[in-house]
Amino acid sequence: MTIAIDHTGRNALVTGAGAGIGREIARWLARAGAAVAVNDLLSGRAEAVVAEIIDEGGRAVALPADCRDDEAVDALVDATVDQLGGLDLAVNNVGMLPPGRRPRPFVEYGGDDWRDIVEQNLVQAALCGRAEAAVMAGAGGGSILFVTSGETTRPAAYNAAYAAAKAAVNHLVTTMAVELGPEEIRVNAIAPGTTLTETVAAAFTEERMAALVAATPLRRMVEHDELARLAVFLCSDLARCITGQFLLADAGAFLSRSRPANNEGLTVSLKGAHAR
Ligand SMILES: NC(=O)c1ccc[n+]([C@@H]2O[C@H](COP(=O)([O-])OP(=O)(O)OC[C@H]3O[C@@H](n4cnc5c(N)ncnc54)[C@H](O)[C@@H]3O)[C@@H](O)[C@H]2O)c1
Repeated sequence: MTIAIDHTGRNALVTGAGAGIGREIARWLARAGAAVAVNDLLSGRAEAVVAEIIDEGGRAVALPADCRDDEAVDALVDATVDQLGGLDLAVNNVGMLPPGRRPRPFVEYGGDDWRDIVEQNLVQAALCGRAEAAVMAGAGGGSILFVTSGETTRPAAYNAAYAAAKAAVNHLVTTMAVELGPEEIRVNAIAPGTTLTETVAAAFTEERMAALVAATPLRRMVEHDELARLAVFLCSDLARCITGQFLLADAGAFLSRSRPANNEGLTVSLKGAHAR
């Protein structure tokens, strides 16, 4: 028996799909048969991904918009419905630091840093989820997937605002799942570990990447297409009993950092802890 995932006849929207992880998710949803609305802030990027999908025999339309803008998001979801014929699957992938913001020590984050980073990673996700859910609720349900981060599962030194905003999205997923479950809308997230997108390649030195790989149980980073295939799965009927979850996809990086191999750095002795 072969088990295949078939999204034929479904209409999908992927935000921030002009590059990196979102581009790969859009391409894999199209390969699985979905018609895809490719959103990006930059229209040239969205159009290039649409051309790639069409070259592979898929169906896609470019819908550039800034997902931080309430009205633009509502118009984006309306245009998806108008141009594709409906909305069954939505992947809210926009995130990272907005232009001009950079990681910094917690005490150096100003109010504008917090507002910009929370808007880019939490507010826009909520705006997209709201508009998508409103359409799906009136049309028999669907699947909404957010892309959060492995940074939500452990302290994220120098990345406080980004990690806190992404952790809030993981929590939003649980609330949306409870409210929207009766409408047959599933809401989940994937939380990627470090993935070598162009943005990450530009931000990390080779030494930092090597240190990350060395500290990861699988001794490698996560590949774009691995995340895309997870998205295709979580949006599919094979995952139809899963809602309100975030799935950490980080090659095991969380394990190595959360459980030190010895007592180094602990301020209390663990001796006798099991005797009590
Ligand atoms: N790359 C990683 O290591 C990594 C790790 C964990 C989580 N993530 C998350 O994965 C998602 C994708 O990351 P990536 O590395 O592929 O990013 P990326 O920077 O490579 O691509 C993001 C795309 O989104 C577009 N975009 C940015 N702001 C937008 C907006 N407001 N509205 C519409 N489009 C917008 C950009 O133009 C770009 O094409 C993000 O949510 C990020 O936080 C990435």
